[in-house]
Amino acid sequence: MPDTNTPVIKLTGLRKRFGIGNAQHHALDGVDLTIQKGEFVAIMGPSGCGKTTLLNILGLLDHHIDGEYELDGRPVISLSARRQARIRSQQIGFIFQSFNLISRLSVIDNVALPLTYKGMTKLNRLKRASEMLAAFHLSEREYYMPHQLSGGQTQRVAIARALVNTPSIILADEPTGNLDSRSSHIIMEELSDLHRRGNTIIMVTHNPGLTTYASRIITMLDGKIDTDTIRKPRKAKADGKRPLNKTVKVKKPKKAKKS
Ligand SMILES: Nc1ncnc2c1ncn2[C@@H]1O[C@H](COP(=O)(O)OP(=O)(O)O)[C@@H](O)[C@H]1O
Ligand SMILES: [Mg+2]
Repeated sequence: MPDTNTPVIKLTGLRKRFGIGNAQHHALDGVDLTIQKGEFVAIMGPSGCGKTTLLNILGLLDHHIDGEYELDGRPVISLSARRQARIRSQQIGFIFQSFNLISRLSVIDNVALPLTYKGMTKLNRLKRASEMLAAFHLSEREYYMPHQLSGGQTQRVAIARALVNTPSIILADEPTGNLDSRSSHIIMEELSDLHRRGNTIIMVTHNPGLTTYASRIITMLDGKIDTDTIRKPRKAKADGKRPLNKTVKVKKPKKAKKS
């Protein structure tokens, strides 16, 4: 186990190049970044400045990069794709803007999918997925197909799926980008709740209003970090809940209504 002072994420001199010869372009051009456990980091910046590239690297989805990346104190860039995949499935939850649900699978099967790699029985996987869906007020939609859901519901399913593995790090790329303000608010409350429980969240957003939930705001420009500001998040109320990766069940009393 890493000691508590080890940053969750430490990037040193990170570079990502696209293209060859004269057409070379640095999507990331020397990023140094340390993120401590339990931070809620919002990343902003103009389109094309490298936000998604950075998030993909943090999620071990990109293998051709220069520089150093330590995850929980362990260098991960040089690990084999297989070991990276294992770390990803155990530690990292992804929430994309384009929800990426699998259209031919029911809601509950979508949420249970990441557990396939955990050696759980099918029954236990469905039980666990069902608990997650209950936490997101989606119990009645378990056997719906993705096309039968609203945008807000779809994104909640995608988040339930991202969290079913109890990841310690949550990466979100414009998670509310396609949603109306009410659905956005519900998603942000969920992320905020996870933050209060001690999970580390890194979220790319275009919406300055959403940064009020974050404890740190980073702006990027031309593949570099431009500004880095620590702030007090809007919701600082402690409710005694533990981080996601230390709990067995995700059950929470909720006041938010269905959307
Ligand atoms: N697969 C790719 N091939 C070539 N260039 C890419 C690729 N992905 C991203 N880029 C370029 O890298 C830069 C950063 O892109 P990206 O990380 O998607 O920006 P952001 O998410 O901030 O809008 C952009 O100039 C983009 O055109
Ligand atoms: Mg992007």
